[in-house]
Amino acid sequence: MTGLPMVHPDPSLPRRVTIYEVGPRDGLQNEAGLVPVDDKVEFIERLIAAGLPIVEATSFVHPSWVPQLADAAEVVARLPMDGPVPLPVLVPNERGLDRALEAGVRHVAIFASATETFARKNLNSTVEDQFTMFEPVVERARAAGLDVRAYVSMCFGDPWEGPVDPVQVVRVGRRLLDLGATQLSLGDTIGVGTPGHVSRLVSELVAAGVGVERLAMHFHDTYGQALANTLAALRCGVTTFDASAGGLGGCPYAESATGNLATEDLVWMLDGLGIEHGVDLDALVRTSAWMAGVLGRQSPSAVVRALSSS
Ligand code: HMG
Ligand code: MG
Repeated sequence: MTGLPMVHPDPSLPRRVTIYEVGPRDGLQNEAGLVPVDDKVEFIERLIAAGLPIVEATSFVHPSWVPQLADAAEVVARLPMDGPVPLPVLVPNERGLDRALEAGVRHVAIFASATETFARKNLNSTVEDQFTMFEPVVERARAAGLDVRAYVSMCFGDPWEGPVDPVQVVRVGRRLLDLGATQLSLGDTIGVGTPGHVSRLVSELVAAGVGVERLAMHFHDTYGQALANTLAALRCGVTTFDASAGGLGGCPYAESATGNLATEDLVWMLDGLGIEHGVDLDALVRTSAWMAGVLGRQSPSAVVRALSSS
């Protein structure tokens, strides 16, 4: 394996970012063939070893809603939940939180929708009722000393409702922070966002009093815009980016969603910009090439393909 990009720093951008790895959760949740627990655990261990500072491990959702992650407790039982690398899990409701606490989880993420249709399809809820579901989750999780991230899905467009007004996203995002969430991850679930839209959304949130340091961006790459959108968010001062090793991913309840921004593609761009992130690109590419073998198909990441064949 070879290759590192030429480094040309842009002094107007942040000097360091945090990559929040979602491959084991968002990357695998949509896979039809069940990935064995051994492979999930190895995937997470290899991501930790490659230097990812935080790795979302799985979801404690209803097992029949996401069968691929029905083994969440088994996976978590084999992971270093008290180790130096946080291993958050998704929890939608109190039942999910109970299961996560029993398993020894220390970091959780709730996931809200900016639109009514996706709230119904993904959570069997309404936009308003989702807050009623999340309130005791955040309260109990914080009381137990857990860190709580909150996602907002469909921040840019929704396959059923079309373009999503930033005002809707700000309203949902504010409510989640007011409930006690510590970080807000803005999901472009179906990958329709473009850079100007990203800048507009971030500035509207900042204007609504949300500090840019509390924001993370979660781009899916359906229309090939994820890296351009990342650069737009970097220019706004965002320093946390979700990405999925090898570009795996999708949402089972939004059929038009494809893979997340590939962590390797993100790392390549950050390396070229001289932005620190702490990830070993070679180790990461080897991990994604191995996972592509487990899944029986090539990685969608351009950087994984380029570096695996060089
Ligand atoms: P529901 O059917 O309305 O649940 O589903 P309910 O509260 O009516 O309960 C029905 C039964 O399910 C009860 O059992 C509960 O105990 C049980 P019964 O009394 O009938 O025996 N139950 C559970 N069992 C295990 N774990 C649980 C759980 N909850 C209830 N947590 C629910 C509502 C929220 C549970 C369901 O809609 C669900 O699980 N949804 C999750 C969907 C999902 O995981 N989607 C993918 C993640 S989101 C995403 O990918 C987007 C993101 O990446 C950002 C982006 O890209 O935008 C984050
Ligand atoms: Mg996602």
